[in-house]
Amino acid sequence: MAFVEFRDVCKTYHMGSVEVHAVAGMSFDIEEGELCVIVGPSGAGKTTVLNMLGGMDSCTSGSIRLAGREVSGLSEHDLTLYRRHDIGFVFQFYNLVQNLTALENVELASQICTDPLPAAEVLDEVGLAERKDMFPAQLSGGEQQRVAIARALAKNPKLLLCDEPTGALDYVTGKQILGLLQRTCRERGRTVAIVTHNSAFTQIANRVIHVREGRAESVETNEYPLDAAEVEW
Ligand SMILES: Nc1ncnc2c1ncn2[C@@H]1O[C@H](COP(=O)(O)OP(=O)(O)OP(=O)(O)O)[C@@H](O)[C@H]1O
Ligand SMILES: [Mg+2]
Repeated sequence: MAFVEFRDVCKTYHMGSVEVHAVAGMSFDIEEGELCVIVGPSGAGKTTVLNMLGGMDSCTSGSIRLAGREVSGLSEHDLTLYRRHDIGFVFQFYNLVQNLTALENVELASQICTDPLPAAEVLDEVGLAERKDMFPAQLSGGEQQRVAIARALAKNPKLLLCDEPTGALDYVTGKQILGLLQRTCRERGRTVAIVTHNSAFTQIANRVIHVREGRAESVETNEYPLDAAEVEW
């Protein structure tokens, strides 16, 4: 049994009389402790996959399991607990609480968890120790994204899901964040899934899932992934 099992998953949106098959029969596995990159063009269904894995959206059919537990069958109440305790989510567009400081944003997430990491230490790891008392509006886009990543990391989740986590970052900062995500796997044994359309990121992954038109077109595993610091794009 794999840590994540995605089996024949479909997600169909109804737009009036039109059906949009955002995910059209997708299957893949992710093993515990892996860094998995889900790569594909715009509209391929990447965000939809991540939202379903994170318990923020339901599937139309198929089965999604995390550590043997059927996520697709959870009640609303259990889904809330699943999102709170099992999942860390880095959104493409930060979603920070505007009237809380950087540190408070991270603390907010860790307070509701059973085994959090110290908020100040995690902010330091993403290079924001000196910005901890600033509000989101006082931070650059890249800094806000790093707060969002710190917030997800501080929850110390079983599964960390990142939707284009470096989209707002410059090259150097983006590389640092990839390194941080890679260390989260290697040193903490956490499972991380990164969604991106940047195929260079596939080099740092243990597992690469290529998605196209709502399907997993191919899956490859890297026995010797590159260190994030060595990747160039
Ligand atoms: N809420 C929704 N209602 C209707 N259609 C949707 C909805 N969300 C996504 N879609 C459609 O599903 C398809 C997959 O969307 P998704 O956001 O998963 O793509 P993506 O791979 O993340 O793309 P991008 O790289 O641009 O972020 C697209 O055709 C999109 O228009
Ligand atoms: Mg997307």
